[in-house]
Amino acid sequence: MAYTTELTIRRPDDWHLHLRDGAMMEAVLPFTTKQFGRAVIMPNLVEPVTTAAAAADYRRRILQALPDEGDGAGFLPLMTCYLTDAADPAQIEEGFLDGVFTAVKLYPANATTNSASGVTDPLALRGVFETMQRLGMPLLIHGEVTDSDIDIFDREAVFIDRILTPLVTNFPELKIVLEHVTTKDAVDFVSAQPGKLAATITAHHLIINRNAIFEGGIRPHNYCLPIAKRERHRLALREAAVSGAPYFFLGTDSAPHAISAKEAACGCAGIFTAPCAMGLYAQVFEEEDALDRLEGFASEFGPLFYGLEPNETSLTLRQDGQALPEMVSVNGGDPVRVFSAENPPSWSVAG
Ligand code: NCD
Ligand code: ZN
Repeated sequence: MAYTTELTIRRPDDWHLHLRDGAMMEAVLPFTTKQFGRAVIMPNLVEPVTTAAAAADYRRRILQALPDEGDGAGFLPLMTCYLTDAADPAQIEEGFLDGVFTAVKLYPANATTNSASGVTDPLALRGVFETMQRLGMPLLIHGEVTDSDIDIFDREAVFIDRILTPLVTNFPELKIVLEHVTTKDAVDFVSAQPGKLAATITAHHLIINRNAIFEGGIRPHNYCLPIAKRERHRLALREAAVSGAPYFFLGTDSAPHAISAKEAACGCAGIFTAPCAMGLYAQVFEEEDALDRLEGFASEFGPLFYGLEPNETSLTLRQDGQALPEMVSVNGGDPVRVFSAENPPSWSVAG
């Protein structure tokens, strides 16, 4: 593997993506469509996407922003429903059966960016989960408790104990994705119940540990939620990603914020990896001597879990040491800073 300089794989999908809306969406979307065939679009817009009508409108805006031909023209956004305390199981069912909603996203209230309308007591939403279980509709979970007395570095592990464990017991057939896992606890929990639930893993959590947030000063562009953890957790994530286990798959959680919103007294959580996502993953897999497992993780295990066909087309990555833009400009707004621009991955997408 050490001498591989070009790698062609089945076209990957991104199972966790923030595109935002308007000019920001138009600025960031081409990076994703250059690499991925499909993406699960997170619904945490300023006005959360809680209805099928809103999701259908949002999907239309994304499709309108795609190029007419060539790379990206065939990109498929998979829409999600933002779960609230007031969610109506019948409407979720209708949105799913109409082919608008692919999945439901559970944000605990105030866990992260634009989650104020999230769920205050996840275990209370029995009717929603019963319906989703019957339909085989995936529940995508931001797995952090929000109690202020729980240390920020423990919030994922405590969520697994307090919320996820009873949820999995109460709804044994519910398809669950624990999103952007950051701890060995999460890796162990998912691995212990193969086939029951799955997890997405971001590129940045495979690369940075919590030291990167404080290296020589505060580094707002390495701040995201769930926050990066200790080195032993990063190593557990790397092991899971390259393991070949089909319940770990790719989800970038690329989360663009204007630079002024990141470099602020109260900076937003979110790391923008879309421009170099596949390069970052390829680099990690190469470092782990597992480039032959990248295709499963990036292109096969996600569709398998969601019950979709893998993409027919392919993607070629090259180890050509291409530079990355430091910033992506946004029409009429502040630019967005690209993760790892000063230290770009050696791999990039050909063409
Ligand atoms: C995401 C965002 O900015 O929308 N931020 C993040 O730190 N990951 C929200 C999320 O997925 O938690
Ligand atoms: Zn996210």
